[in-house]
Amino acid sequence: MAENWAPDSWRAKSVEQVPAYPDAARLAAAERTLASFPPLVFAGEARHLEDALARVADGKAFVLQGGDCAESFAEFRANNIRDTFRVMLQMAVVLTYGAAMPVVKIGRMAGQFAKPRSADMETIGGVTLPSYRGDIVNGIEFTAEARHPDPERMIRAYNQSAATLNLLRAFAQGGYADLHKVHQWTLGFLSGSLQGKLFEDLANRLSETLAFMEACGLTSETTPQIRETDFYTSHEALLLPYEQALTRVDSTSGQWYDCSAHMLWIGERTRQLDGGHVEFLRGVKNPIGVKVGPGTSPDNLLRLIDRLNPDNKPGRLTVITRMGAAKIGERLPALIRSVAHEGRKVVWSCDPMHANTIKAASGYKTRLFDSILAEVRAFFAVHKAEGTHAGGVHFEMTGQDVTECVGGATAVTEANLGDSYHTHCDPRLNATQALELAFLIADQLKAERQKEQERTRAAGG
Ligand code: PEP
Ligand code: CO
Repeated sequence: MAENWAPDSWRAKSVEQVPAYPDAARLAAAERTLASFPPLVFAGEARHLEDALARVADGKAFVLQGGDCAESFAEFRANNIRDTFRVMLQMAVVLTYGAAMPVVKIGRMAGQFAKPRSADMETIGGVTLPSYRGDIVNGIEFTAEARHPDPERMIRAYNQSAATLNLLRAFAQGGYADLHKVHQWTLGFLSGSLQGKLFEDLANRLSETLAFMEACGLTSETTPQIRETDFYTSHEALLLPYEQALTRVDSTSGQWYDCSAHMLWIGERTRQLDGGHVEFLRGVKNPIGVKVGPGTSPDNLLRLIDRLNPDNKPGRLTVITRMGAAKIGERLPALIRSVAHEGRKVVWSCDPMHANTIKAASGYKTRLFDSILAEVRAFFAVHKAEGTHAGGVHFEMTGQDVTECVGGATAVTEANLGDSYHTHCDPRLNATQALELAFLIADQLKAERQKEQERTRAAGG
């Protein structure tokens, strides 16, 4: 158990990004209600995820983390959940088949509601109101009433997370994810696109492989790995009253787990060493992540690692770099070197979204597909040069055919950003753009694996 830690020890620290709840009694009542509700995940599942991530840390697997920037009450529909799940399955098949490497799938889903903001207040047309902090805190409409932080929203977010997780579990284990259904995962709007065609080809090859395996006696009935998949949930552990209320002692291990999701991460804006967010997450046993931007020094990162993973347990900590396409080549090598030099075991993951956000002339917040791709490519190139494993990617994406990021094979242009722009916060990759990235990453992983095989051969292994 972490020393001098309790689920509420974060309260004695300074905490960034806290909503100004006007009524402390209502907040406390909502926290009590949440604390009386069942956990959303089991500690055992979080441990399974940690084991899977330990394989990533060891260079034997790859992690795909993705989903909305911010889930919302308005977009809560079965089709949205299914489509994001489905495109992640497609991407995972592309990566697994192309790179012959297991893929750990983690959604930014079933709890990704709270958003950090660069300013506490927003002014439009001379009117100043509190900033929108995600549906778990306040409403996005620019009215005084909506922007009031309302603790009851935490209850609604919990219920929506429970229903989302229920559907994800059903899809993952109830037959939908059976590899024999690979042809049926293709999204309608993909047909006709290059990515649709590439996926169709891959699905055909996979079907042939499955037929061969069936002839050998490996079927959906005999082999659960063919029939079902593991799908985990994650979100930024930003709203600490909510996270604390869902933190429970696991009866089998006697350890504290934050049962709001399998994995939690700390954002770039709230990772102060002595701040409340680091304090809270250091004490829960879930696998955790920390986002690090271009301003992070090697020393700063090592201290964070010490605080968050003092036992140097592989799989416990994922370092999610978000440097920006322009800076990653210059900033990442020093971080990797000092972590390797100190013998720290982490999963390295690349978030190519958050430092590549720009404002289009039309006013839309967007990201260029080419910048996202450039950051991913640089991430692989740096790891290759350092001899470390490029362990994973972290995307803001959706299975919907949205027009939020500019570029990609079926090009979204700046002029048509407004056609289907639905995000409640940052711009997401649409399904075609996400699949396109998966194909490109599969190529990189294949090259990494071939290099590894050559090394083994040369060493006479
Ligand atoms: C996010 O992941 O939505 C986010 C706010 O990221 P970061 O902390 O890296 O800015
Ligand atoms: Co975001």
